[in-house]
Amino acid sequence: MVERTLAIIKPDAVRRNLIGEIITAITHAGFRIVGMKFVHMTKEQAEHFYEIHRGRSFFEELTRFMSSGPVVVLALEKERAVEDFRALIGATDPAEALPGTIRHRFGTSKGENAIHGSDSLENAAREIAFFFSQTELLDHSP
Ligand code: RTP
Ligand code: MG
Repeated sequence: MVERTLAIIKPDAVRRNLIGEIITAITHAGFRIVGMKFVHMTKEQAEHFYEIHRGRSFFEELTRFMSSGPVVVLALEKERAVEDFRALIGATDPAEALPGTIRHRFGTSKGENAIHGSDSLENAAREIAFFFSQTELLDHSP
């Protein structure tokens, strides 16, 4: 089934000028970009986006980091997009991510791991709606 998922090129990767290489890896893996924007989240927006992690030990560090600079947000489409994108980015900790994955190639620590990917179809829909209105996504009905 064709699905949509949400990707975020995180502030560490944007700072290190890796936007182009990461988008190349994503499109070479067969994902179609159906929405894309540059966003500098406020701390409050980052807290809202990562609401499911509120109360976790890393919540403060995570939301400070995600609001520390601009990110690139991408809505992506592909057969089995959610699962395949998680495979493309690799494990949360770049040290555990398989060679060839985006986090293995570009992540530097568990916190600064270059990219986000939705972890379920349900969260993907919520996360895409968090960043994009209908008219900012391709193939929307008029
Ligand atoms: P993401 O949501 O960003 O795609 O990452 P994920 O599913 O692989 O990992 P998740 O458990 O959802 O955690 C979200 C982000 O929080 C940071 N984190 N730091 N220091 C730590 O122990 C720790 N654990 C998680 C990571 O940046 C992770 O991507
Ligand atoms: Mg996650």
